[in-house]
Amino acid sequence: MSWLYGRIIRPILFTQDAELAHERTMRSLAWVSRNEIVCDAVESIFSAPGLPVELFGLRFPNPVGLAAGMDKYAAAVPAWEALGFGFSELGGVTWHAQPGNPQPRLFRAVAEEAIVNRMGFNNPGAETLAAKLAEWRASARWPNHPVGINLGKSKATPLEKAAEDYANSFRVLLPHADFFVVNVSSPNTPHLRQLQDRAALEEILTAMQEVQSRTECRVSSVEGRKKPILVKVAPDLSFEALDEIAGLALARGLAGIVATNTTISRPETNDAQIQRVYAEAGGLSGRPLRSRSTEMIRHLYQQTKGNVPIIGVGGIFVADDAWEKIAAGASLIQIYTSLVYRGPGVVKEIVRGLLERMELEGFKELSQAVGTRAKGH
Ligand SMILES: Cc1cc2nc3c(=O)[nH]c(=O)nc-3n(C[C@H](O)[C@H](O)[C@H](O)COP(=O)(O)O)c2cc1C
Repeated sequence: MSWLYGRIIRPILFTQDAELAHERTMRSLAWVSRNEIVCDAVESIFSAPGLPVELFGLRFPNPVGLAAGMDKYAAAVPAWEALGFGFSELGGVTWHAQPGNPQPRLFRAVAEEAIVNRMGFNNPGAETLAAKLAEWRASARWPNHPVGINLGKSKATPLEKAAEDYANSFRVLLPHADFFVVNVSSPNTPHLRQLQDRAALEEILTAMQEVQSRTECRVSSVEGRKKPILVKVAPDLSFEALDEIAGLALARGLAGIVATNTTISRPETNDAQIQRVYAEAGGLSGRPLRSRSTEMIRHLYQQTKGNVPIIGVGGIFVADDAWEKIAAGASLIQIYTSLVYRGPGVVKEIVRGLLERMELEGFKELSQAVGTRAKGH
């Protein structure tokens, strides 16, 4: 399957503009999602072996999740399970529907297996997304894995009204997902990352927790528990700023931290084509992000003494990359860019590789591997 993707499907997709290729892929996956027989056939090819993880009251069939930004319209909710993912994070969604930045806004740096994007939260708005999710549930095609929603701030909303904006989205989406990620780390909404500042973040979390206590909404599997809220951080934060967020996570009882989003930094390169892509404004993802994201995870794990679960994301292409993140302190991992470069078979390959690695190390559960290499950085 990886051969088919690498030799035939990817070359065809890569002759097209990156966003057009993304839209066409999403249309195909939406079609797969609506057709039970096709969806089952896809699942029979791509489903990953079981490697269950229990975290914040949810059961994940395996630890490899779809990262935010791929399915902003909830177009292919059932397909992500068929492709082997152990969970999916939909969105980013904002309170107001918005078109995002002008195109072109998505660029491939092929030789580096990287992407630069400045999509700017193109999305249908929280209410439309909620209606779409209700439709999937009613169709009885809801996946058998945890579904999360990534929340962003509407571009039209000034920073000082950010808490209200996040809380509004949260209120309408609360019944429709298993967990929520507060995204204050996208580089593509002006000033958004200032919300990583402790006071601003605290205001957003307070507003969301108020919504939560007003709404009688419980995690389906664990009676009486509120739905988990996580915060997603940028890889460009200093360790001091990260420590503030870690402190807040502990103080406010956050379910976890997603580390990391894309970076605004660029590695050195002599390749002219790559230099042109890197000169584009936006966030860089993929291979060049791997080690910085791992460093952030390791730092967070140490700082919180492993008491705040971490979802590790950034440059994971193979099982060794996933293992590196887990050993640094991640309890779950997510991928985006490797799906583009390596195709859907990547999920199954990573889960298989993790199982092999666990056997080699003599671990019975993945949780035993979490943070085993978190010391001495
Ligand atoms: C085109 C694109 C759009 C993205 N949109 C979002 C988003 O809406 N919200 C978010 O938190 N992260 C978003 N991300 C970041 C990814 O979720 C992920 O954190 C990042 O790409 C690093 O993982 P990767 O190296 O596996 O791609 C986006 C990434 C890409 C490439």
